[in-house]
Order: sequence, then C-alpha cells, then structure tokens
Amino acid sequence: MVVPPEHLHWVKILVLHGPNLNLLGRREPGIYGSVTLNDINRLLEEEGQKLQAKVSTLQSNHEGVLVDAIHDAQANYQGIVINAGAYTHTSVAIRDAIAAVNLPTVEVHLSNIYRRESFRHHSFIAPVAIGQISGFGADSYRLGLQALVFHLKQLNSG
Ligand code: DQA
Repeated sequence: MVVPPEHLHWVKILVLHGPNLNLLGRREPGIYGSVTLNDINRLLEEEGQKLQAKVSTLQSNHEGVLVDAIHDAQANYQGIVINAGAYTHTSVAIRDAIAAVNLPTVEVHLSNIYRRESFRHHSFIAPVAIGQISGFGADSYRLGLQALVFHLKQLNSG
C-alpha cells in the first residue's frame, strides 16, 4: 500500500463498536437518539482528518470477534476507542485482551451509564482504559478520539 506523504505522521486508531450498536437509530431512541452507526463512523472519519488520525471502524455482536480485533490491532494501530456495549458490564475476555495488547484505549458510551440501571454502573473495561467518556451521545466518540490522539501525541513528544 502506498502511503501519501502527508499521512506519514498520522496515528492509526481502531474504533470498536460492540453488540446492538448496529441498530442505532432504531434502537431505544429515547436513550440513544436517532443517530445511526454510519453517522457516527462518518463523524469519526471527519474528526480524524482534523486530528491527523486515520480511523478504522468495526462493529460486531460477537465477543470473540472483538477479542480477535483487539489482538490484531497491536500490529496495525496505535490506540483503540471502544464502546463495548453490554459487554462492558460482562466481559472479562475483552478486558483481558485490552490488557494483553497494552494499546492506549479509551472507553466510550453514548448514554451516561451511571444514570441508568445499577448493572450498568460497573465496567470491566475502565480499569484497563486510559479513561472513559459517557453520556454525550455521538459526541462521546468524538471526545474519546480527541482524548486518545492528544494522549498519543503527548507520549510521542515526551
Ligand atoms: C452503551 C451502554 C451499555 O450499557 C449498553 O449495553 C449499550 C450501549 C452506550 O453506548 O451507552 O449497548 O454502551
């Protein structure tokens, strides 16, 4: 693959969307709004252009697919933004994958998980993430991407 010279210093970020997020726009609009996953991916690509970050996105309803994607990210990306959906609250496997690859990871949620049912208050991802953004709708992803890119630039300049 030929990398255009202006992209040489860009960071590469993987954005992972977990289960049921493919239904955004139709799914519980009172909680998640009318924004679709395509809208969010487009927003992330645009934000990436501003931040000089090449953003790739993947959605899966399957825990193992997300684990595999985190493993594969180690060779191809500098950081991860993840909305693990309901796996946030259940998946030791996704937590362990993030810990194993040791890539800076930002956890994001559309809704404020702490204002919702108590089973959503615990995140297995949070202790292995550099930080968490929750409650700003699609902007949670934008803010998460910004935070990750700033973090990576700080690491590279230090
Ligand atoms: C979510 C919050 C989770 O509790 C829920 O299971 C989701 C979406 C969010 O983005 O607000 O699927 O991660």
